[in-house]
Amino acid sequence: MKLLLVLLFISFNYSFGEKQFINFLPYRTQCSGNPYGVGISIVANKCLNDVEYFVDGYKYNSYFAYSQTDSNNATTVYLTSYGQRNCSGPEGQTSYFEINTCDNSPPMAQPKYSPYSYVTVTNKPSFSDNSVVNAVYSNDQDSSSSDNSGSPVCNNDNFLFATSMTDGFEIELQSGVVDTFSCKNGQPFLNSCFKSDCNNGTIALSCSPSLSESTKNVCPIEQ
Ligand SMILES: *[C@@H]1O[C@H](CO)[C@@H](O)[C@H](O)[C@H]1NC(C)=O
Ligand SMILES: *[C@@H]1O[C@H](CO)[C@@H](O)[C@H](O)[C@H]1NC(C)=O
Ligand SMILES: *[C@@H]1O[C@H](CO)[C@@H](O)[C@H](O)[C@H]1NC(C)=O
Repeated sequence: MKLLLVLLFISFNYSFGEKQFINFLPYRTQCSGNPYGVGISIVANKCLNDVEYFVDGYKYNSYFAYSQTDSNNATTVYLTSYGQRNCSGPEGQTSYFEINTCDNSPPMAQPKYSPYSYVTVTNKPSFSDNSVVNAVYSNDQDSSSSDNSGSPVCNNDNFLFATSMTDGFEIELQSGVVDTFSCKNGQPFLNSCFKSDCNNGTIALSCSPSLSESTKNVCPIEQ
């Protein structure tokens, strides 16, 4: 209960300031060489459901992250996992990360493939160049989530989180399916193989609404 009050206070405190985005850029080795694996970018001070869904399917869990700067101007990111949606259910582990350093990857970033992440806090979401980005946006009434015609808007004002798969990243899912993500001239592709049966298709780019959230895929060539 105490922790919840602290979190609510922090959330209240930040909600009038500029939005913060916490980014984890994935690496196989200690943040040297090319980025590889699954990157994560999340908005601070909001409960986030289903962060793993795009790569690993629905987990029915949730995360809450915030950052704190100490008197030496060192900023630490705190990430708490919850056993159920909406930051309810049993509270899992709280991990912490020092920004602008190479740290361990957060649990939702498929650390088996990319154990290290370079951690940043920015005023817009940040991804590795040429990675396939699946971003999720809130459809809340009180965020600027729809324009006058009522169609969904996918922009940084209602951004919740994104997973970004580096160009050429290959993952074997529990089902035995092997997925390879790639990005060619700004168009994301997903090659999906089961046994030796493969299908390489484009991933749609438009901002598309579902019940409470909208999603958009891109593959940014540069920031
Ligand atoms: C922390 O950053 C602020 C703003 O950039 C600066 O004014 C202050 O001197 C810094 N404090 C320390 C201890 O470095
Ligand atoms: C989470 O919150 C939403 C919106 O308030 C609600 O519709 C949904 O039922 C909640 N889900 C759970 C598992 O509590
Ligand atoms: C899928 O097709 C794209 C576009 O032709 C290509 O760049 C990519 O390498 C292909 N992926 C695989 C795993 O073959």
